[in-house]
Amino acid sequence: REGVLDIPVVVHVVHSTDEQNISEAQIRSQIDVLNRDFRKQNPDVSNVPQVWRNIIGDARIGFHLAGTDPLGRPTNGITRTRTSVASFDAPDPSSPDPDKRTDNKVKFAQTGGQNAWPSDVYLNIWVCQLTRGLLGYAQFPGGPAATDGVVITHKGFGTNGTAAAPFNGGRTTTHEIGHWLNLRHIWGNKQGCAGDDLVADTPNQEGPNFGTPAFPQVTCGNAPNGDMFMNYMDYTDDAAMFMFSAGQVARMESTFENARRSFAA
Ligand code: ARG
Ligand code: ZN
Ligand code: CA
Repeated sequence: REGVLDIPVVVHVVHSTDEQNISEAQIRSQIDVLNRDFRKQNPDVSNVPQVWRNIIGDARIGFHLAGTDPLGRPTNGITRTRTSVASFDAPDPSSPDPDKRTDNKVKFAQTGGQNAWPSDVYLNIWVCQLTRGLLGYAQFPGGPAATDGVVITHKGFGTNGTAAAPFNGGRTTTHEIGHWLNLRHIWGNKQGCAGDDLVADTPNQEGPNFGTPAFPQVTCGNAPNGDMFMNYMDYTDDAAMFMFSAGQVARMESTFENARRSFAA
């Protein structure tokens, strides 16, 4: 692919308090982070250890708030919905309760949320109060249109307003959009070296890293460089993650030739 692929975004702000009804400035600060992170233009990219400098990926994806709504009318790309739901949950595929396995209430007006805009045209981002300290969650490519997109806590969205340290760098949304474009966690969601993210240039690692680790963190025989814990698809703090790899970019690009080809028009 040549050039930058531009993705129209709709942000659905679903709020049960005035504080959760985040400002347009907070929303714009998030779009700005995405436009840096997916273009290798984030200033902290200079912190990538020397050993990985030549495999930092430029995803060549741009994001803008949609200017036209699904009915063809002008919009600012933001919907605002008052809800009586104090906090929303994510689906839990391992729950014995079938309702919890598919819990996506924030994505439907009928359950106190807001309906998705057509997911072949827009990236839907729901911003709300999440329960259990959740930062966000995403739907991988190939799922139902009505639930397609990412959900982010307002406390981890953008860089100002209600965004709170250490998740006020906008990286939760970068991470979740990585999932939306088919990226897995680097450790492959299986503890103990058996997991795989299906990306060759991210070293196999044992499990998630948290906080702000010091380089190197060796696991799973990946010495001397160790885990690529500064990758957006690890679990480190916002200030400690600042790269996609070239292999991850290739995986995202292939998603635009397959399940998300409607965006590549
Ligand atoms: N736990 C969430 C997930 O697995 C997001 C983690 C985001 N991390 C961050 N530093 N913002 O999708
Ligand atoms: Zn994740
Ligand atoms: Ca890998």
